[in-house]
Amino acid sequence: MNAATENRMQKRTFEGKHVVVGITGGIAAYKAAELVSQLRQRGADVHCIMTEHATKLISPITFGELSGHDVTVDMFANISHWDVQHIALARLADLFIVAPATANIIGKMACGIADDMLSTTVMATKAPVLVVPAMNTNMYENGIVQRNIRTLREVGYTVMEPEEGHLACNTSGKGRFPKTDVILSAAEKILFGKHLLQGKKIIISAGGTQENIDPVRYIGNRSSGKMGYAIARAAAMEDAEVTLVSCTTELPVPEGVTVCYVKNARDLQREMDARFDDCDVAIMAAAVSDYRTKTEATQKIKKEACDSLTIELELNPDILYGLGQKKKGQFLVGFAAETNDVIEHGKEKLQRKNLDMLVANDVSQKGAGFNVETNIASILYKDHTMEQFPIMTKEELGHVIIQKIAERL
Ligand code: CTP
Repeated sequence: MNAATENRMQKRTFEGKHVVVGITGGIAAYKAAELVSQLRQRGADVHCIMTEHATKLISPITFGELSGHDVTVDMFANISHWDVQHIALARLADLFIVAPATANIIGKMACGIADDMLSTTVMATKAPVLVVPAMNTNMYENGIVQRNIRTLREVGYTVMEPEEGHLACNTSGKGRFPKTDVILSAAEKILFGKHLLQGKKIIISAGGTQENIDPVRYIGNRSSGKMGYAIARAAAMEDAEVTLVSCTTELPVPEGVTVCYVKNARDLQREMDARFDDCDVAIMAAAVSDYRTKTEATQKIKKEACDSLTIELELNPDILYGLGQKKKGQFLVGFAAETNDVIEHGKEKLQRKNLDMLVANDVSQKGAGFNVETNIASILYKDHTMEQFPIMTKEELGHVIIQKIAERL
C-alpha cells in the first residue's frame, strides 16, 4: 500500500500541507473551530489568523488549542516581528481558507484593502484562496456583495456557495456556513485535484431502490449509497460534471454535484436513460431490486384480512444491461456484489452487460459490502485484464475507480 493510500485510509488526507485559516467576525466563527480541528486531525499543519471582531465571538485560545499554534490577531502586538509574521504565514500556506468570510472581509479582499493581519496576509499570499461566505441572506444577496464575490472569482479565488437554512438572525435563507465535510472536499479539490476529468459528463447511480408494497411498506436492501457518493465526490474533485441519481436522501450532497432523487428501479432507469446519450461515463453503483410487486396496494394492507400473505413479484428491468445495449462510445461501469467465485461471476457480468469496467467485491468478507466504511475490490476490464486491491475505505476506492476510468478514457 503506498503512502497516499495509507493516508486516505486514516483520513490523513492533508498530511504535509500547511493551511492558514482566517476567521472573521460572523456568528458562524464557532463552526470554524470544527474545521480547524478536522484539518489538523487529517494531518494538516494549521495556523489561524483572527480578526478583532472574531475574537469577540470566540476566544483565540480555542483556535490556539485546536491548531497547536499561537493565533495571530493584532499586527502590532509584537512590533519587532510583525512584518516577518504576516509574510511568513503568507509564504508558508499551501492553502488559505477564509471561514467564515463576512461581507466586510469579502469587500476588503475585492477592493485590495489590507488594514489588519488577516487582510494583509491574504493579500500577500500566492497560495490558492478558499473563501467560505456566511451571513444574513439579505446581506449575501446584496448587489455589492455579489459584485465583490464575482471580483474574487475573477482573480482566481474559490468562493463557496453558502447553504440554505436557518440563520442566526432567526430567519431562513441562503447564508449558512457549509458543513465541515463540504469545505474539506472543496479544500481537497484545490490541493489535490488534477483535472483528470475536466469537460467530462458523468452519471452515477447510488443507494438501494425501494419497491412499494403499500403506502407504508416496501422491498428494499442494505445499500447505504456510500460507495456511489464517494465516486461522485472523487469525480467532482477531478472537475467532472457529475450527476448522482440517488436512491437515498440520507447522505450529504457532495460539493459541486447535481443530485436527482429516485425511489424505485423504474424511476432509476428513466433518469439514467434520460442522461445516458449525453454522458461520457455512466457508473451503476446502485443496488437495484431485481423484483418489484406486481400490484401496489393503494391502502395499508391489514393483517386481520388474511392469515398468510403472498405478494406476487415481477422482474425489474436490468438497467445496466439496457445501457450496455445502447451505448455509443460511453464508458460504462458496473458493480458486482458476490458471495462466491467473485472473479468468474464478474467476468461473466462484464461480458453479458457489455461493460468497460466492473468493480467486483466479495460481500461475505469482513470489511466489504453493505453499510460498512470499507470495501475489498477487484477491478475487471474489457480487455480481460484485472487488478485486485487490498481493503480500503470507500472514499479511497472512489478515487481509485475515478483514476482508472480517467486512464482509459
Ligand atoms: N443492476 C441493474 N439493474 C438491475 C440489477 C442490477 O442495473 N435490475 C446493476 C447494478 O447496479 C450493478 C450490476 O447490475 O452495477 C450488478 O448487479 P448484481 O446484483 O450484482 O448482479 P445481477 O445482474 O442482478 O445478477 P445476479 O443477481 O444474478 O448476481
